[in-house]
Formats: sequence, C-alpha cells, structure tokens
Amino acid sequence: MIKKPINYRFEPFKIKMVEPIQVADPLTESATKRREEVLEQAHYNLFYVPAQDISIDLLTDSGTGSMSQDQWSAMMLADESYAQAISFTRFEKAIQDIISTDFHIIPTHQGRAAENLLFYALNEMAADASSDGRPLRRRVLINSFFDTTAANVMLHGALTEEDIGGVNVTGLSSGARRKIEINLKRELLIGRNQLVVDQSRNDLFEHGMFGGNIDLDRLETILKDDPARAEVLLVMLTTTNNTGGGLPVSMANLRAVRQMVDHYSKNDPVWADGLPPLMLFMDACRYAENAYFIQQHEPGYSDKSVKDIAGEMWSLVDGGTMSAKKDGMANMGGFLACRSGQLKQRVWEHMVEIESFFTYGGLSGHDMEAVAVGMREGVEDARVTQRIMQVQRLWRWLKDEGIPVKEPCGGHGVFVQGRKFWEKDSRPLIAPEDLPGHTLANELFRRYGIRGCEIGTIMFGDYIAETGKPAITSPDDNVRLAIPRRVYTDTHLQYVAASLVDLYSERTKSPWRGMKFSYRPDALPHFLSHFTPIKAS
Ligand code: F0G
Repeated sequence: MIKKPINYRFEPFKIKMVEPIQVADPLTESATKRREEVLEQAHYNLFYVPAQDISIDLLTDSGTGSMSQDQWSAMMLADESYAQAISFTRFEKAIQDIISTDFHIIPTHQGRAAENLLFYALNEMAADASSDGRPLRRRVLINSFFDTTAANVMLHGALTEEDIGGVNVTGLSSGARRKIEINLKRELLIGRNQLVVDQSRNDLFEHGMFGGNIDLDRLETILKDDPARAEVLLVMLTTTNNTGGGLPVSMANLRAVRQMVDHYSKNDPVWADGLPPLMLFMDACRYAENAYFIQQHEPGYSDKSVKDIAGEMWSLVDGGTMSAKKDGMANMGGFLACRSGQLKQRVWEHMVEIESFFTYGGLSGHDMEAVAVGMREGVEDARVTQRIMQVQRLWRWLKDEGIPVKEPCGGHGVFVQGRKFWEKDSRPLIAPEDLPGHTLANELFRRYGIRGCEIGTIMFGDYIAETGKPAITSPDDNVRLAIPRRVYTDTHLQYVAASLVDLYSERTKSPWRGMKFSYRPDALPHFLSHFTPIKAS
C-alpha cells in the first residue's frame, strides 16, 4: 500500500555504476544443486564459499559498501610518497574535523591493526611501570568485546598465567595445555571484563534503546575498589555494540563512564609518563550510527547533527580505535586516535615493524584519500538516516511475519535468533550444542543464496575435540544479516525477508538437525572452522 510521501526516506544517491550478481536467479533447481556442492567443498563454513556463488551477501558491513564518485575521484589525486604524503595530511584533517585536532591520528590498514598497536604499546608501558617486568595492569573493562579486540587483548598478555591458576594441566601435552589455557583465558576475559548492560533490566536500559550501554553499577564496583582499579589498563566502549545486536551507547552512559573514571582515579599515582592514571577509549567502528540513535532517542539531541553528536562523543574519550571499513565508508583503512603524545610515540616506535611508517600505516595514498572523503560522508545526516531506516525496514518485515529477531533493531544489521527460529511447539528442533544459528546460516545459503554470519556459539563458545561439540554455548545463537552501505535496494531485502519467512514455514523439513565441528582452530574460530551437518533422521 502506498503511504504519504513523508514516509519515504529515499536513498540520497543515484546508482551510476552497477556490478552484476552472478546468480541472479537463485531459486532454480540447478542453482540449488550447485550451492549444495559448494557448501560441501566449503566444509559448511560460509567464509570459504566463493563470492560468485552468493546472490545476496550479508556476511558483513565491513569494507563491503559502495564508494561514492567523490571517493573514487579523490583516489585519482592521491600522493603515493612514502613519508609525509599529502594524502596523509588530507586523511588526518578529515578525521580531526570530526573528532578534534586534540587527537594524534595514526593510520592503520584496518581496525584490528589499531587494536594491536594500542594493546602492544599499553602493555609495554604497563610492564615498564612494574618492578619485575610483569604488567600489573591487565584488565580491559568494556561494554562488549568484538572478537578481534578480545584476541588482541589476549595476544599482548592482558591476561597472564596466574589467571588460569587452579586448573591442573600437568601431564597434558603442550598442545592440549595451550587449548585449555586459551579457552580459559577467553572465558575469563569475557566473563570478568565485559560489562554490557542487561537488556532485560529496564532500569538500566535507558529509553528502551541503549542496549550497548555499559553496566554502571558493575563498573563502579570495580573502579571504587583500590586493588581492583589498580589492575585496570583501560576502560573501553564499543559504539555501537556489534556482537549484541548493533545497539548504541547513550551519551548519558558515555558521560557517566567518563565521570566515574576521573572521579575514582583522580588521586591515583601516574603509572606511565604522559598518561592519565586511567584512560577511557572508544571502539568507534560504527560511531556515526551510534550518534544517529542518540539524535533520535536521547532527550536534548533531536536538533543536533550526527556530526556534532559524534564530536561530542569523542570529546569524552582519551582515544579510540576505528575501522574505516564501516562508518568511514571505505573498502579498506582504519586509525588509532589518542590525546597522549607519549602513547603516540610508543605506537610510532612499534608500528614501523608491522604497519609501517606512521604517515601511511599499511595504506596506500589512494586508500587514505578514500577514507578522508568517506569520513565526511559517513556523518552526513541523510546518509545515516537512510541507512538505518533501511535496516529497520528489513527488521520490521521480519518481525511482522513472526520471525524471531533480536529487539530492538540495531544499526548495521538484523539479528535473527537462531535457537528460537528452530523451535516448534516450544520444543527445540536443534539443540544449542548443535549450533542452531550456524545451521540457519547454512540453510539460508543452500536454499536462497543468501550469506549471513553466525554470531553465537562458534564465536564465543568452546569445543571438545572428542565429540566435535561445544561444552560452553553462547546465550545467543544469532545469525547476523549485516547490511552493506549503499549496496542493496529494498527489493533485495524484500527477497531476504521472503526467504526467511519461507524457510521458517518449512523448518521442520530441513535435511539437517544441526552441525558439528570437524576442525576448529584455537583463535577466531568462525573464520576457519570446518563442520559436518547432522542429518535429520
Ligand atoms: N571492532 C568492532 C566493533 C568490529 O565490528 C570490528 C570488525 C572490528 C573492531 C575490527 O575491525 O575488521 O577493520 O579489523 N567487524 C567486522 C564485522 C569484521 O563483520 O563485524 P576490522
């Protein structure tokens, strides 16, 4: 039904260049048969599936967006000088125009490289500050870890051997010991340090929307305890909270965290030259989407622009890591921003070995030009509004048809609840340890050519080699349908909604009753694991 014009927030762009979808008619018998073969070859892990076999790719919103004519033309004007290229100056200026010239800007090839540099440098500084070279400050308090952030915190020793004390690993092979250690460290890291607000508690979950908030009570319990606070390396807020449904952090929460950090650390000794006693950083991958939610839902912000709100968010932190592949609107790039000159210097000293010189950090001049223009476009109100409204339309279509989706809808994708999806008359068709989310992701590809990504037990659970099953399952087994920026039209997304509705109505007929691991690496398992389907009898 056609509604009044006010209801239509059309794309603030026209499409000038198109990329053909190879399998544009995914429902034929031959296309389905081909995907069944492809899945077998890909060990039922969608990261191994060749992109040409995918009809609609919602694996990630990272680096998969369409760049604008302004980005492509800026790339032609790039300066590829090794050091101090003009392209770096433009990159730095575009970022500082949004976040402030108070920050040093260090380019990196993507977000996880910025995380790597940050935790390397901070851990080195923490080790320097201790008498025996063992860093005393190891905790990173955060609303929610993205898996690469957790991996980088672990990599640089933010949890050490004492943390796994009490577990008897004597007599085990070094490989088995290492596996146990990694699982325990990960569990401890997530369990002890991840403090996202409990979305079922309305008193903490401001305005029903800000499910990315950090739980201030739990944070305060740690910060007001002197020995516990002395272990904290960094407090961090991920905006928006990717793994928890793309939900935002409110400005009130961000401000309260800032005040709490300053209040409790104000009399603490400075432990590293040039650093405040305790710092607050932001993982800013989707900071513009976060700012949009503040504009729409937080009192006092409705007449402010996304760019101004983003600037206010940055004014409250000591630094941040950013993947420019998301709200930087680029196919590649990222940066680390920090106020401290000493921290910047440590990072510069270290980065030459891995990300290279500090004015290009693994990026070509033309990559930096694309990010410079992309950062500006990323905070345009019309761009963010249309983007989030499109995600919300897909969510609404699914919700209205009774498909179990995580509520409320976040910024970068729709999270379909894998466990609930496979329920029939309140009984599970697929048990949590049989990876219901991942089975759903495989069915969506097999039947309809749509690729999504499980964010659940594969990413955050564990694995027992003897059974191929996890012992620890994640409380959520979501399938994230991440929407790339400026790529798909509503018709593409209507097809996605129709496919989920179709699959839901036929879920008892699936040939599978779950999946089990046949191979799982210790770190970041969702990228590389192999699976075998459990056949329905
Ligand atoms: N932090 C968050 C919240 C992220 O979502 C990601 C990446 C990163 C850090 C790392 O950035 O990929 O540029 O190294 N997320 C992608 C995703 C991969 O699909 O959600 P990166």
